[in-house]
Amino acid sequence: MLTLKQIYNLAIEMGIAADLRGKKSVEKHLKRTKEKYDELSKEEKKDFDEEKLRNPYSDTRILFGDESKKIKRIMAGIDVDAGELMIAKYLSQNSGKEIDLYLSHHPTGKALAALDEVMHLQAEVLANYGVPINIAENLLKIRISEVARGVSPVNHNKATMAAKNLGIALMCVHTPADNLVASYLDKIIKKEKLEFVADLVKLLKKIPEYAAAGKENAGVKIFSGNKENHCGKIALTEITGGTEGNPKIYEKLANAGIGTVVGMHISEEHKKEAEASHINAVIAGHISSDSLGMNLFLDELEKRGIEIIPASGLIRIKRSK
Ligand SMILES: [Fe+2]
Repeated sequence: MLTLKQIYNLAIEMGIAADLRGKKSVEKHLKRTKEKYDELSKEEKKDFDEEKLRNPYSDTRILFGDESKKIKRIMAGIDVDAGELMIAKYLSQNSGKEIDLYLSHHPTGKALAALDEVMHLQAEVLANYGVPINIAENLLKIRISEVARGVSPVNHNKATMAAKNLGIALMCVHTPADNLVASYLDKIIKKEKLEFVADLVKLLKKIPEYAAAGKENAGVKIFSGNKENHCGKIALTEITGGTEGNPKIYEKLANAGIGTVVGMHISEEHKKEAEASHINAVIAGHISSDSLGMNLFLDELEKRGIEIIPASGLIRIKRSK
């Protein structure tokens, strides 16, 4: 059994360990945030979310609940809304199994309102694949401001208020789980000598979450290129870092020697840009990828004696015995 705070801490710890930028780079980022914080006036510090000093992921927060609360049973889902929380409440009252926490993957509340901040991660990931950091940073800046404007009118506190009204603790774990997907895929892709796009698709289809999604018509798909193409160098640029980056990046990725990108999802505009740059885009699947990341985290919680009840589209597959 863990407390709410311990679960949150474990999410951050695992997210940092799996971060494609590397632990040292994440620590450097935290140090810079602290330096910037120290330079703020007393007035400015009032508006500063101090969690940023130790948690590098703005889209991962405890949204409601007593941090010292012992958690025995979690309802874990991809999204959260009042309906999901009502299911948790209903089960708590009618099955005799009290649900202590709703754990959502996608952010809500203040974690959604700050989704754009986590996107800076992508610049370094792109730089590690050979895109000059100045180009990656500048292209992302444009997209980050678009995302910030996009999330600003959203009624982001609806689910958090529902959780408070129902008395159910609520937490969201977004980028740490996406980092777990990225590092998991990175390891298995590096292990294999993949020559053609078909080999990559075959490898991804072996992952149980993707195999399960395939049966639901939501499996691995090639959105740009075809299975006969050579993979070339494979980049995991579309897995973690909040949401989709700038579509102009494909041309830069091609210049950096990337042949194939693996992503969770891709918009039409990005697909067209990938095609124009002769980059293969293999889309593993959105909810299946989100499930994979959550499962890697949830397995660690189960190992610590916490019961998991899957909800909201989560394809729950256990790896730990
Ligand atoms: Fe997602």
